[in-house]
Amino acid sequence: MTAILVARAVFPQTLERLRQHFDVEANTEDTIFSKLQLIQRLQGKAGAFTTGSERIDAEVLAACPQLRVVANMAVGYNNFDITACTAAGVLATNTPDVLTETTADFGFALMMAAARRMAESEHFLRRGEWTKWAYDMFTGSDVHGATLGILGMGRIGQGIARRGALGFGMQVIYHNRSRLSAEQEGPINARYVDKATLLKEADHLVLVLPYSAQSHHSIGAAELALMKPTATLTNVARGGIIDDAALALALREGRIAAAALDVFEGEPSVHPDLLTVPNVVLTPHIASATVATRRAMAERAADNLIAALTGAAAPTPINPEVLGRMRPAPPGG
Ligand code: GLV
Repeated sequence: MTAILVARAVFPQTLERLRQHFDVEANTEDTIFSKLQLIQRLQGKAGAFTTGSERIDAEVLAACPQLRVVANMAVGYNNFDITACTAAGVLATNTPDVLTETTADFGFALMMAAARRMAESEHFLRRGEWTKWAYDMFTGSDVHGATLGILGMGRIGQGIARRGALGFGMQVIYHNRSRLSAEQEGPINARYVDKATLLKEADHLVLVLPYSAQSHHSIGAAELALMKPTATLTNVARGGIIDDAALALALREGRIAAAALDVFEGEPSVHPDLLTVPNVVLTPHIASATVATRRAMAERAADNLIAALTGAAAPTPINPEVLGRMRPAPPGG
């Protein structure tokens, strides 16, 4: 029977389903494998069910010659070196679509939390500091009618823009590698602008772009300096897109009003300065975390593995150019 590794803990139902097709080694303790441990566990495995914590690079691929399919339970795949996967004839897959609306809900919620100072005021209340109502207590900025800026206008970015435009009467401006079609821009009245204009005009800026060497520190001190002092910044994309040290300083000095972050450079570590500035909402990478969506993501990753290793079409391949020249299955495997 074809052997696979499920590299992190996952729903028992998903494991059960995978066991109907494969000889499954499961990481039931949910430890995060070092590269060496990952290589050891992948010996003899044709497939890997991974999450963002497993890095699949040229070294891993070379050390695991039987590996043919890597299925990420995430839409983002910066933990995969796709060029190396393609060169090695390894199919990589991810889980787009099934998490779009849930992640857009959370991005919008975080942006609102920053604008209306929800976390900061909640901490104040819990500390027992609330003694009276005051006219200027935790005054924030309006979301309705404000200008919503989106950096990275893919599926999730468009979902957030739709919420803002149709639900809250916001003006949407965006910057992206490519401009949306008139049919996509029309219903939400989205205006394509250059990055500097986006930074200068947004009242609430939301980052939804993939992480790559090109997007590393897309928002640093220079970009933060262009933003309005009343603006908020929300990141539901990936850590490393923002220079967290520069952001913490800008928040402390009031150069922007507030931020909301679900992802961090080097997570699960969080820059210590972010932990001590009050005007930032911090959540532990949970934008897609509803029961239904996490189940759908796990099932999509399993669908991809099962299809790709049984000769069918994987629903959501990242490097479909590999199809037709995938590493061969060993005889009888
Ligand atoms: C989560 O961060 C994902 O990429 O799905």
